[in-house]
Parts: sequence; C-alpha cells; structure tokens
Amino acid sequence: MTTNLHLINHPLIQHKLTLMRSEDTATDNFRRLLREISQMLAYEVTRDLPTELITIKTPLATIQSPAISGKKLCMVSIMRAGNGMLDGMLDVLPSARVGYIGLYRDPETLEPVEYYFKVPDDIGERLVIVVDPMLATGNSAIAALNRLKENGAVSMKYVCLLAAPEGLAALQDAHPDVPVTTAAVDEYLNDHGYIVPGLGDAGDRMFGTK
Ligand code: URA
Repeated sequence: MTTNLHLINHPLIQHKLTLMRSEDTATDNFRRLLREISQMLAYEVTRDLPTELITIKTPLATIQSPAISGKKLCMVSIMRAGNGMLDGMLDVLPSARVGYIGLYRDPETLEPVEYYFKVPDDIGERLVIVVDPMLATGNSAIAALNRLKENGAVSMKYVCLLAAPEGLAALQDAHPDVPVTTAAVDEYLNDHGYIVPGLGDAGDRMFGTK
C-alpha cells in the first residue's frame, strides 16, 4: 500500500460517491456528482500550496493579505474519463493550464496505448495535477507520469476518485515521488481489470456510451 496517500473521506464526498456507485444513477447525475466531488478533491489537493502576503487596499484600509505564491498549476487529464474530473477541478482552479494524454487500455493485455499527447511547454515550472477517476492496474497512470517526466515535469500530484490496492502499489513503486489523492481505496481488481466494488466503467457511465 502506498505511503504517499491522501484518502479524503469527507462525509459529503463519501455520500456523493455512494450515489455514483449505484447502478441506478443515470448519466446526467453521474457526471454532475463527479464534477462536484472533483471540486472538493481540488480543494484538498491544493491544501499545501504556499501563500505569500501581498499588499491590497480594501475600501477601508491597506492590508497585507495572503495569496497563492510560487509555481502555477497545470492540470493534466488522462482521456477520456479524466475529462469528467477536469471540469470540476477547473471550476475551482480556473486559471490553471491544461494538458491532455489520450490512453486506452488494450482489452487483452490491459496495457496502455497512447493516442494523444499535448501539454504546455513550460510544464517543468508548474505543479502538475494529473486526473483520472479510476486507478485500476496503475498501468495508465504510470505511463502518463513517465511521459510527463520525459517532457520535463518535476513536481506532480495524482488525483483519482477510486483506487484499487494493486494500482496504488504499482504507482507508488514506479513513482514514489508523486502523492496520490483519492476518495476511496476499494477491495480488489478483478480479472478484467475492473475495480470491485467500484462503479463500473467510469467513461461509459459519464458519457453514456453503453
Ligand atoms: N476503469 C474503469 O472505468 N473502471 C474500472 O473499474 C477500472 C478501470
């Protein structure tokens, strides 16, 4: 089990996640709930951003007041399911830069296959927050972080909705420098690479493709 893990078990997140897990929850609600949880995960994952005092004038006085300092943020979505989290993250972090990595899982080998890669040139100067709701085998997460490091990323965090213990361990082995934030760690990964109990295929449920 990863040691660099932030498990966010806030009651609001847990309640919304329960609704998402239910097979009775339809596409529109599923998407809305993922967006809302992602807003809260954005709040948690940015908890340790450094601040500095800046001088401002309120209508009544001139004061020193805290503002976020240091590196700017870049969100990176692992498509396509990552896009459902990206929306909520950007609600909270509207000026973040955005990158996309297109990966699909080969259904036989469960290995990731890349079909798209576009990130800002100055990614090395930014805190990179990588999002994908389901950390299952960890293969896609590891491949995405490898590609980002090849492109200069030095400071990264990984945010998911649900993690399998197997995927967490694999990710931690490959990238021990990258903290993982998740709303839940489920029981196990089944033979088809699905998280159990999980919520099914996040992409299909959010886009209504099945
Ligand atoms: N991807 C999903 O969408 N669901 C899983 O359970 C595992 C990977």
